[in-house]
Amino acid sequence: LTVRASSYADELVKTAKTIASPGRGILAMDESNATCGKRLASIGLENTEANRQAYRTLLVSVPGLGDYISGAILFEETLYQSTVEGKKIVDVLVEQNIVPGIKVDKGLVPLAGSNDESWCQGLDGLASRSAAYYQQGARFAKWRTVLRSSLGSCSLCCHFSDNGLVPIVEPEILLDGEHNIDRTFEVAKKVWAEVFFYLAENNVMFEGILLKPSMVTPGAECKERATPQQVADYTLNLLRQRIPPAVPGIMFLSGGQSEVEATLNLNAMNQGPNPWHVSFSYARALQNTCLKTWGGRPENVQAAQEALLVRAKANSLAQLGKYAG
Ligand code: 13P
Repeated sequence: LTVRASSYADELVKTAKTIASPGRGILAMDESNATCGKRLASIGLENTEANRQAYRTLLVSVPGLGDYISGAILFEETLYQSTVEGKKIVDVLVEQNIVPGIKVDKGLVPLAGSNDESWCQGLDGLASRSAAYYQQGARFAKWRTVLRSSLGSCSLCCHFSDNGLVPIVEPEILLDGEHNIDRTFEVAKKVWAEVFFYLAENNVMFEGILLKPSMVTPGAECKERATPQQVADYTLNLLRQRIPPAVPGIMFLSGGQSEVEATLNLNAMNQGPNPWHVSFSYARALQNTCLKTWGGRPENVQAAQEALLVRAKANSLAQLGKYAG
């Protein structure tokens, strides 16, 4: 279940480096059908396969997207789906110079006997599913679990495939709560110590993985807000203390930050040299305006695509530390 130096070692390193390339980051478009349904409901659309297909077609066919986006994480349905015009979505991404990826965890269930913690599903059959996803064109895989800063304990589950997929390790520490930034820092230090303990124990090849952390911010309901400079200082301090330089890329999730906030925070983190590529793997902070602009209407597709490109370009500049607002 681990990424030891396998026959795929060279390919894993190459894929990870391609995704962590200068001025580019990941478009997370791997909302489960349930979550995608919530997004579609927000613009008054029904959660049908056709509507999900129309939206994902819009996203992957933005002209020039590959200038700013190096990888796209897909939900299983999309990996096997075609565009509205009948072309495989995976092929469209590859033509755009975007590496297709796949969400491999199967979501969260309550952890019995715990204080409101959850547990990730999806380990059964992970190896054979990974091999099938590779066949289908996926070259990296995201495993996400969720932790809450407000709780006293953390349970982790991280598993990696050795079927040629670069693992993205994502223990998401939720923004929810009234806790301050110091509390998030404390929890994040504990989480990443544990994650890297187990990665090392399992001889995971650090050069062939990517991380998807939450930034260190105050809880969403905390009254004391933090500036991008403070978020950058705390987050880089955390990374320096916990993440070996052998890891090629740190691809942050946006976690409910606004589009501009997520860009400003990323930009602040890239004002000096870092040992890893510090970039983005945003879903909401790339898609929010795009989705609203589309509103499910064919006549708005072009404007919606332009909106996505605006966010992708802004985050590309932020990856280079050159976003000027
Ligand atoms: P957000 O950027 O919307 O947090 O989503 C990223 C993601 O993939 C969460 O798992």
